[in-house]
Amino acid sequence: MKIFRTKQTLQNYLDGMRESKQRIALVPTMGALHEGHLSLVKDAQQIADVVVCSIFVNPTQFNDPSDLEKYPRPEENDLRLLQEIRCDVAFIPTVEEMYPKTEESWHLDLGNLEQVWEGEKRPGHFQGVTQIVYKLFRLVEPDVACFGQKDFQQVMVIQRLIDIKKLPITLHICSTVRNEKGLALSSRNMRLSAAGKDKALALYRSLNHVKRYFKVRELNTLRKEALDILHQEGEIEVEYLTICETRSLQEIDHIDPAKRHVALLVAWVEGVRLIDNMLLD
Ligand code: PAF
Repeated sequence: MKIFRTKQTLQNYLDGMRESKQRIALVPTMGALHEGHLSLVKDAQQIADVVVCSIFVNPTQFNDPSDLEKYPRPEENDLRLLQEIRCDVAFIPTVEEMYPKTEESWHLDLGNLEQVWEGEKRPGHFQGVTQIVYKLFRLVEPDVACFGQKDFQQVMVIQRLIDIKKLPITLHICSTVRNEKGLALSSRNMRLSAAGKDKALALYRSLNHVKRYFKVRELNTLRKEALDILHQEGEIEVEYLTICETRSLQEIDHIDPAKRHVALLVAWVEGVRLIDNMLLD
């Protein structure tokens, strides 16, 4: 596996790949890699000739400086994991490499996507995400970019970025990887006890319930039943549970058969904020 730490060396390498007509896929990550990230790389390997996995803890998407400071950076382990699955390229730049100017302005009109759910809870977060992803897109010029369905709103935001900037990039959405019981994999799960992990399975049960009865129940009743499943478990604090249209993430009050729908859920277990979702159609 090639490891690059500067934009120039990565670009030189990728120029050669493009000259020999290789299809390039980009998998952007912030490191602390787990099976979920590795499955993105494995998906990318199926659809491209060269897979670039970037590892960069992006400061502009953090609202809380202490969160940024505490974010794990197990570089050696990350590189080992990528090597084991034969990823072609790891790109690990410094903050100075990605943000050479200390003051850099960036704003993208994300419309409603920035006003609701994660956008509302984490002001400025998606501006930071699009800022770094756009830099990576311009640098790598991938044919395909792979993102996990687990961060559903982020995927919609990236699609908006691609549309607004008219980029010739196909967005590949990779299914959420779950453990054998259904818990969506996340680096945050490490902070849950074994009992907490069992409790957190109620998120999956609740989302499955919404999916199963989506077409047959009145929506308010369905939402209430899904919340009951979470509350029955005890010690789960629900931040939001909503049924939305997939593109705008506008909450719906009736099903439009011409549109696609998703249930989004955020809940706290043992002080850990867990995020999950399920496509309903
Ligand atoms: O999902 C993430 O890990 C980050 O938001 C991303 C897309 C790598 C941008 O920093």
